[in-house]
Amino acid sequence: MSNVTLHPAVASKSPIVRRQFPRSDVVEIFQKPIFLAPMAGVTDTAFRVLVRELLDDDFKGLLMFSEMVSAAGVHYRNEKTLAMLRTVKEERPTAIQIFGSEPAICAEAAAYVEELGSATVIDFNCGCPAPKIFKNGEGSALMKNPALLEKILSAIRRAVSLPISVKIRLGCNEINAVEVAKRAEAVGVDFIAVHGRTREQFYSGAANWEEIARVKTAVKVPVIANGDVRDFDSLDRILATTKADGVMIGRAAQGNPWLINRLLKYFLTGERLEPPTIAERVAVMRRHLQKIIFYKGERVGVCEMRAHAACYTKGLTGGAELRNQFNRAETVDEFLKIIEGINGR
Ligand SMILES: Cc1cc2nc3c(=O)[nH]c(=O)nc-3n(C[C@H](O)[C@H](O)[C@H](O)COP(=O)(O)O)c2cc1C
Repeated sequence: MSNVTLHPAVASKSPIVRRQFPRSDVVEIFQKPIFLAPMAGVTDTAFRVLVRELLDDDFKGLLMFSEMVSAAGVHYRNEKTLAMLRTVKEERPTAIQIFGSEPAICAEAAAYVEELGSATVIDFNCGCPAPKIFKNGEGSALMKNPALLEKILSAIRRAVSLPISVKIRLGCNEINAVEVAKRAEAVGVDFIAVHGRTREQFYSGAANWEEIARVKTAVKVPVIANGDVRDFDSLDRILATTKADGVMIGRAAQGNPWLINRLLKYFLTGERLEPPTIAERVAVMRRHLQKIIFYKGERVGVCEMRAHAACYTKGLTGGAELRNQFNRAETVDEFLKIIEGINGR
C-alpha cells in the first residue's frame, strides 16, 4: 500500500481510550438480543428495512448487520462499495460489517463509516470462507493469523469511537476461537459474534455450540451465538448450551423476514407467534420486490429478487415450477404476475 493517503484518524495513531465497561450503548444493544446476521447478497438495505417493518413497535431498536463491505473498496472509493455503506433511517440501527487484511486500510474504512453517520456498530469479518476472500488472507483466513487480526482490530479501535464487534468462526482448520476472542477483547472490541463452525466446514455439519460456550466463559464482553437457529426450539437450545448474551440468525431468515420478530418476541415474552399464512408471504414478497427496485432499480432488482423468491417459495406446492417462472421473469410486471398467481394455490 504505497502512495496511499490515510484517513487522519488512522494516521494520528491516537491511543485507545478506556471507557466504562460495558458501554451504555452496548448494554442498550443487548436489550434486544436477537440479531439479523450479515449475509452477502441477502441483507441489503431493502431486506433490512423489510425486517424492521415486520418488527413489533417495541422491538424497533433491534440491531441488524449489513452485507460484508470491502475495506479496500472504501479506500479506493469504489462506487458500488460506498453505496453499500449508506443506510437509511427506516432500517437503523445497523451494524456495518467490513472485511480486509491491512490494519491501516481497515481502520480507514471504519473511520469513513463512522463519519458517514450510517452505522451504530462497526463489525469486522473474520469468518467468510469464500476462496477468493480466503486466499487474500481476509475473512476466515484471519482465524489462523491472530496476531494480524489483533493489529487490525486495534487499529480500528483507535480510529473510531463507535462500538466495534468482530464476527469469528471457531477456527480455520483447528479450533482456536477462545484465543482469538481473548485477543479481540484485549484490544477493546465491544462484543463478539461466534459462528460455531470452522472455515474448513464452510456451512456443512451441525454448528458446534459447546465451543461457543467455551468462548462465552473465556471473555467478559458480550458474546453472540450463531449457527443453525431456525425456530423457538433451536433458540432455546443454543441459549441453554452457550449461555450467550445474544443469538444471531442467518439462513433461516432468508425468505422468512418475520422470523426475527417471532424469535425476539418469544425471547422477551415467551409468546409463540404463528408463522405467516401464504397470503402474508405473498404480500411480503411483493413488498420485498418493490423495495429492492426502489433501492437498486428494476434490472438489478428483478435479477436479485429471483434468489429471494426461491427462498419465499420453498415448501410451497409447485415451488419448483414457480422458481423456474421467476428465473425467466425480466420485468417487475412479469414478476408481480407470478407472485399474484401464488395466492390461488
Ligand atoms: C448467503 C450467505 C451470505 C453470507 N454472508 C456473510 C457475510 O457477508 N458476512 C459474515 O460475517 N457472514 C456471512 N454469512 C454467514 C452468516 O452470517 C452466518 O454466520 C452463517 O450462515 C451461520 O448462521 P445460520 O446457521 O443462522 O445461517 C453468510 C451466509 C450466507 C448463507
